Amino acid sequence: MKRILVTGGCGFIGTNFIKFLFNNVSGEHTVVNVDKLTYAANPENLMDIEQNLPTRYFFEKADISDIEKIEKIIDKYEIDTIVNFAAESHVDRSIIGPQDFIQTNIIGTFCLLELVRKFQKMGKEIRFHQVSTDEVYGSLQGSEFFSETAPYNPSSPYSASKASADLLVKSYVNTYKIPATISLCSNNYGPYQFPEKLIPLMILNMLEGKELPVYGDGLHIRDWLFVEDHCSAIWMILQEGKIGESYNIGGNNQWENLKLIQFLATILAEKTGRNIEDFTKLIRFVKDRPGHDRRYAINSDKIRNELRWKESFDFTTGLRLTVDWYLNNLDWVEKVRSGDYLKWIEINYRNR
Ligand code: NAD
Ligand code: DAU
Repeated sequence: MKRILVTGGCGFIGTNFIKFLFNNVSGEHTVVNVDKLTYAANPENLMDIEQNLPTRYFFEKADISDIEKIEKIIDKYEIDTIVNFAAESHVDRSIIGPQDFIQTNIIGTFCLLELVRKFQKMGKEIRFHQVSTDEVYGSLQGSEFFSETAPYNPSSPYSASKASADLLVKSYVNTYKIPATISLCSNNYGPYQFPEKLIPLMILNMLEGKELPVYGDGLHIRDWLFVEDHCSAIWMILQEGKIGESYNIGGNNQWENLKLIQFLATILAEKTGRNIEDFTKLIRFVKDRPGHDRRYAINSDKIRNELRWKESFDFTTGLRLTVDWYLNNLDWVEKVRSGDYLKWIEINYRNR
């Protein structure tokens, strides 16, 4: 049975990962969720698990850069595995203000690695998994795909901070022989995603009759994966992944942003009984994101062939589930929006 420290468990993917562990994985694993509770967090996401599994799930409010506090938590709960989701995750925010990205994504990861090294010196081995992103590879122009051997070429402060963290993880494996793995996943979508990211933002703006801001010409391509499939891949890496290895995760599902927005409009029209044009007429082309990567596409042959991972959700099913979730959880949306999100939108859009 693993005793897992999940960092950033109150955010989008961390929440889904913890739910996946308790709902889909057999075994009496223990999870300690460490989260600083930034604007992107909602601790209520896991209230059901906290109430139903008080001996197997614990929440600790802490910053991963607070090395002393995290050391005490590792000690107290006898942690043997760390999965590091905690991050500043939104590219647009990193362009406006990179500092928090450097602090959490680089220094925070460094602190966790130092603790793994410290415990190793004391004879206690802790398995470390770094949750990274395909954005570290930079932008694709032609029709090729990123494999794990592609060079890192990040474009934004966000992706540069994630790339730096990955390089630190690799250096700790090489130098100190810590037992670590890295996964690099494509764009996730699904329940509990903060409504600054493309898919929830578009769903909610469509429902509220607000403009749908499309950056640049809308022909940028992202490779989309349902969040639960990302979670199952990470779990598989924790069990069977080879120490020191990186694994790409993706669903072979490339979409131009504009086409994706039109597809979302089709699904919402079906669900609400309204016309597609009620939604597509809201599309507005706005100033492009600076340094906007043109295309991401992930080659995930390694995890498919070596670990026999496979996604379970096709895009139509995943998007329908996601639209349903937002339609049924508008109170959740109100809550997470009431933080500093609106202030941020105001600042961001003033500069566009
Ligand atoms: P998110 O922004 O929804 O959640 C991040 C969580 O981390 C929040 O709960 C936040 O409070 C917490 N956090 C931030 N700084 C912290 C700190 N210093 N200490 C402790 N907790 C802190 O992000 P997400 O979309 O769930 O992404 C999770 C991870 O997955 C990130 O590392 C991200 O880079 C990576 N990733 C995301 C995607 C995607 O499409 N969203 C794809 C690939 C990889
Ligand atoms: O590829 C993985 C990455 O995916 C993760 O590492 C990041 O944490 C995650 O935020 C995501 O990054 P993107 O920048 O690709 O996601 P975002 O939802 O911000 O944007 C998706 C695409 O949609 C991108 O081409 C920019 C465009 N976009 C986005 C927003 C918010 C718009 O055209 N309009 C918008 O309003």
